[in-house]
Amino acid sequence: MLIHVSFLVIFMLNWIEPAHEQAVHPFLYFSSQDVHRLREKAKTTHRDIFVRLRTAARRMKAEPSRFLPPTNWSVFASRWNEDHGNNFAALAMYCVLNPTDVQARNVAMQFFNAFVSLPNWRVSALIRDDVPVAHSLVAMATAYDFLFEHLKEDLRIKALGKISDVTKELYERSFKLAWGKQYIQNHVATNYVAFFTGAIVIEPHIKEAKVWKERANFMLRRTMFLLDQIVDGSMEEGVAYGSYTT
Ligand SMILES: *[C@@H]1O[C@H](CO)[C@@H](O)[C@H](O)[C@H]1NC(C)=O
Repeated sequence: MLIHVSFLVIFMLNWIEPAHEQAVHPFLYFSSQDVHRLREKAKTTHRDIFVRLRTAARRMKAEPSRFLPPTNWSVFASRWNEDHGNNFAALAMYCVLNPTDVQARNVAMQFFNAFVSLPNWRVSALIRDDVPVAHSLVAMATAYDFLFEHLKEDLRIKALGKISDVTKELYERSFKLAWGKQYIQNHVATNYVAFFTGAIVIEPHIKEAKVWKERANFMLRRTMFLLDQIVDGSMEEGVAYGSYTT
């Protein structure tokens, strides 16, 4: 009898496992249990925020090529390119709130494909600058968490690999570049928040990310400790940068 029971348990665990993997995401800001509540709020208390996201999504659907990262790296890297990631994250949130908008989700999938296909997310004139990379990374990791259930196996693997590679790259560069040691310069928050987000999102799949996550957390805590001492904003580099750390 005992043998039968344990067989049954093993069978059930095997059977449950894929479903469990599915349920891992989203977890970054909300879980799948919270999504229903978020959709309700998008219609009521938070409607004005939702309308802004919907307007942005409409524009991206109307003219995707204006918003998608160019897949030719020379073109992508020819100008400051953080806008692609910034728009992508907004689109991903919209897709969570309006799952019936298949067209919007298709554009989101095109964002994943384009970011995955680029050899790197740098700007050629500022090749050492990690800030544009950070903007793309924070968007890819956030969108991966939000839209995990909609990603096909192949793209899921490629996106995970890319997020992991870039997160590791920023982790390693944090030991070598000035921003890795500084306290409150704006690149500190931008780059550490990005690879912190990347590491958190991939940790369920890639255990090595725990070390990356812990470094980003430790270094950000130093920054936040200092910024918490003087809270009138004078320690920040301006309102926009201040919004990164408040
Ligand atoms: C990529 O863009 C550059 C610059 O516009 C162009 O010279 C090059 O031919 C393009 N490469 C491809 C494969 O389209």
